[in-house]
Amino acid sequence: MYLPEHYRRLKRAPQVILPKDIGIILAYTGVNRDSVCVDAGTGSGWLAVSLARVAKHVTSYDVREDFIKIAERNREMERLENLTIRLGDVKKKIEERDVDIVTLDMPDSDKALKNAHKSLRTGGYVVGYLPHMEQVKKFVEVLDKLKFTETFTTEVIARDMLVREEGTRPSTKGVWHTAYLVFARKGE
Ligand SMILES: C[S@@+](CC[C@H](N)C(=O)[O-])C[C@H]1O[C@@H](n2cnc3c(N)ncnc32)[C@H](O)[C@@H]1O
Repeated sequence: MYLPEHYRRLKRAPQVILPKDIGIILAYTGVNRDSVCVDAGTGSGWLAVSLARVAKHVTSYDVREDFIKIAERNREMERLENLTIRLGDVKKKIEERDVDIVTLDMPDSDKALKNAHKSLRTGGYVVGYLPHMEQVKKFVEVLDKLKFTETFTTEVIARDMLVREEGTRPSTKGVWHTAYLVFARKGE
């Protein structure tokens, strides 16, 4: 899968969110220079950095100090002063209030939805990045209980093409499944 230079230069440790999925997160949440975001887990910070390249401010939480160190290096390299990386468990607490977007890429992220709900402004978006269908089902059940609206689940499949003298066709290599994406908005 093609990685543009501004991703190739980023360090990575745990599984990162790839540009094909980052693109749809940016597009569907409408993140812009006025947006305040919360992200978890930070991991290597690929999504956090991508949000911070666009948003007013991003706070990203992780429970692991070793991953936070890697993400901090990416933050410094990208000179993103609007990205704050915090040690913390979002299943226990999210301190920020009135935020526009909460992104969740971590195990059992449905258990962080109550805190995401508290943190969001009305109409704000929550995004779940979930590798398995079973996780999607749980996540959507909790969204419904919390009366989130406009719940929408999708998957991005990017097919790389081989363009050659002998013939042009989809490549047989590449990343197929990464994760399902669930988007929803905090109701009134
Ligand atoms: C797959 S990685 C996230 C990758 C990141 N989205 C990126 O694009 O680089 C999942 C992260 O969630 C963190 N995590 C797990 N449970 C957490 C929790 N309760 N609160 C915050 N972070 C958590 C893990 O330590 C891990 O770094």
